[in-house]
Order: sequence, then structure tokens, then C-alpha cells
Amino acid sequence: MKVAILGIDGYIGWALAMRLAEHGKNVIGVDSFYTRKRVKEVGSDSLLPITTLDERLKTFEERSGKKIEFAGGDVNDPDFMLEFVKKERPDAYVHLAEQRSAPYSMIGLTQARETLIQNMGGTINLVYAMKEYTPDAHLLKLGTMGEYGTPNIDIPEGFFEIDYKGRHDRLPFPKSAGSWYHWSKVHDTNNLMFANKVWGLKITDVMQGVVYGTRTKEITKYGIPTRFDFDEVWGTALNRFCTQASIGIPLTAYGKGEQRRGYLSLEDSITCLELGLDKPPKTGEYRVYNQFDEHYSINELTALVAERGEKIFGRHIDVSHIDNPRVEQDQHYYNPEHMKLKELGYKPSRNLYEDIDEILADVNDNRERALKYRDCIMPKTVWRKSISK
Ligand SMILES: NC(=O)c1ccc[n+]([C@@H]2O[C@H](COP(=O)([O-])OP(=O)(O)OC[C@H]3O[C@@H](n4cnc5c(N)ncnc54)[C@H](O)[C@@H]3O)[C@@H](O)[C@H]2O)c1
Repeated sequence: MKVAILGIDGYIGWALAMRLAEHGKNVIGVDSFYTRKRVKEVGSDSLLPITTLDERLKTFEERSGKKIEFAGGDVNDPDFMLEFVKKERPDAYVHLAEQRSAPYSMIGLTQARETLIQNMGGTINLVYAMKEYTPDAHLLKLGTMGEYGTPNIDIPEGFFEIDYKGRHDRLPFPKSAGSWYHWSKVHDTNNLMFANKVWGLKITDVMQGVVYGTRTKEITKYGIPTRFDFDEVWGTALNRFCTQASIGIPLTAYGKGEQRRGYLSLEDSITCLELGLDKPPKTGEYRVYNQFDEHYSINELTALVAERGEKIFGRHIDVSHIDNPRVEQDQHYYNPEHMKLKELGYKPSRNLYEDIDEILADVNDNRERALKYRDCIMPKTVWRKSISK
């Protein structure tokens, strides 16, 4: 199977590329190095040092004997995408190549426009190119659990059955995203449903939870890490807490800390993506997975990081609550369904309680880098103050 990984240089892309190549798939990656550039602009960097993609590909080939191909380019450039798909004709695409930071999208109008235009532009370019040259290929597109928001009812996997004024239908579940980034993913979802409807493209729309972890089987086996962001714009809350614990400053929970989200490990995330590729949708099918294993509140995350950090580093770790820079409910109901991947055969192999010590150890090995970039951790991007220029 020839698989194109759009966004191969990213956190998930690099780990997935090694996994698929390891399992004998023919992998070709695309990337514009957008994330590297934007992270540097906020004065930060990946905490785990990563070399250039060329070097990582070379090292992987030397150590594994397997080659991963690469085509540099911007998915949001329609000519590039058409040419790429026409030349390479993959059997499947994993589309990860989007602006993926909610805070970045809320800095101001420039970043909001960039997020919406770039994300929707890349996806629409891809489905047009697929329709033209690879209409039978499978698109596995990364959306986010954040598309649903936090409604006061259970969240189904994409669709729900509804009775209204005496009639019955199966409809897309209403979305209630919390940033321009999350809305860009909702718009992608709508566009993918339409591409499926008019052209019958085979699509898996993955509503992915927050991914954590620094290691997968291949990262450990070949010793080539993937990126790890921890600044206020590009890092996840858990990554920030682990970094704060390592450099000995309080863990900063936003607001009351009862915000609850779905999580899964990087190892399990790429396992799910590979499973989705191996068991594609039927011809003409559009399907949605909620891809996460457990849900945690921010307060549960800070308690866990503080407890494990105290044990590993041998000193007290404080947790402080600061004004929430985001506009979000910080106390809410949360019960999303997540059965479809298990029905396909997925069995979770990790959980955060097992992984947290590894993450803390890897972060602590790079403590000097964390200290160098520590000014980037506290929030400066405030949703209500998003600037109008
Ligand atoms: N990591 C998570 O916790 C998480 C959770 C839910 C959803 N997702 C989604 O999964 C995908 C991958 O996430 P990630 O954490 O690996 O992000 P990442 O930023 O580390 O990786 C994305 C990669 O795509 C590249 N890219 C971005 N725009 C591009 C473009 N227009 N053309 C070519 N390359 C481009 C970037 O340079 C980067 O290497 C994203 O779409 C993200 O929204 C991630």
C-alpha cells in the first residue's frame, strides 16, 4: 500500500511514518515546515531536539534499512497538490498538514484568516486532486474532538438519530467549536461530507482527542524523537505541566481546571491510524471515529504530574490557578462515545498513568532547553482580546 502522509515532519506525522514504513508500507511524506517556522516565531522550539527532516529520513534509513520518500511543498498550493497526486497516485492519504494551534488562531485577524484559509484550502485542494487522479483512494483526515465542544448531552461518533416534530432522521451531530482552529476543522468536516456525497470519495474523518507522549516503539527502537512543544501557543496543557514540573515552577491550570477532554497516547494514536488504513471504508462511505481512550480534567492532570514529578525529582511541586485566557466552560458534562475503533479491533495499549514517568524523564533530559525558552510558557494569547488587524 502506498500511503501519502501530509504533515510528515510533525508530532504525529513523524511517528506514523516510521510505524508504517516499519510495517512494510510504501510511505511518501509532504511537508512545508510550517510548524517549525511558526514555533520559532513565538520564541520557542521543540523541547526534544529534532534534526532536519532530511537528517531524520537518512538516519531512519541507515538504522532500519527502510526508505521513506519525501516531497517538499504546501498542501494549500493547488498546483502543488494536483501535481503531487497526479505523479504519486497513492492508495491512501493521511492528512495531518494543518495549522493545529487553537491559541495561534486566536492571536488576531491575521492568524484567524491564515488558519481558516490554509486549513480549508489544503483539504479542498486534496479532495479535488483525489477526485481527478485517485478517486478510489482512501482519505484519513485528522479532525479533533474539539469540533463537538462540550454539549450537555452525550456526544456520538459523528452522527445521531433524532426525532423532530413527528419525523425521524440520522443527522450530523451539531458542532460547537471553541476557537477559529476548531471551527476550521468543522468546516473541513462539512466539506469532506460534501466531497463524499458528490464524488463518492472514501473518507475517514478522525475526531482525535489530545495526544500525549514522547515514545513509540519505533522512536525507542531507532532513537529518532518526534517534536514536543510546550509554549503557550503550540504546547498542550499536559506538555506545559510536565515542563513546569521539570524546571521547578508551579503548574498553571487555567480557570477552575474542571475542563475535561479526551486523551490518548501517541503510540495508540498511530496504531488507530494504521488500523483505519488497513480497514478502509467501503466504496462511497464517509465515516467518523472519535479517537481517544480516557478523559481527564485539567485538575486531574496537574495532580498526576505533581505527584509523579515530586516522586521523580524529589521536591515539592505547586499548582496554581490563573485567569483563563480562553473562552470556555471550565465546569461541564462530558461523555463522548468511542466504540467504532474498538469494533474494528483496536485495543488500547497505554494509559497516561503508565506513560507519565517516561514523558517526565524525557522532558527532564532536556531541562536546559526548557530553561532557555521558559518565558514562552505563561499565556499571552487572550481569546477576548484577539486583535483586529
Ligand atoms: N497532536 C494532537 O494532540 C492533536 C489532537 C487532535 C487533532 N490533531 C490534528 O492532527 C494533525 C497533526 O497534529 P500534530 O500535533 O502532528 O501537528 P504538527 O503541527 O506537529 O504537524 C503538522 C505538520 O504539518 C505541516 N503542515 C502544516 N500546514 C501545512 C501545509 N499547508 N502544507 C504542508 N505541510 C503543512 C507542519 O509543518 C507540520 O510538520 C493536525 O491536523 C492536528 O490538528 C492533533
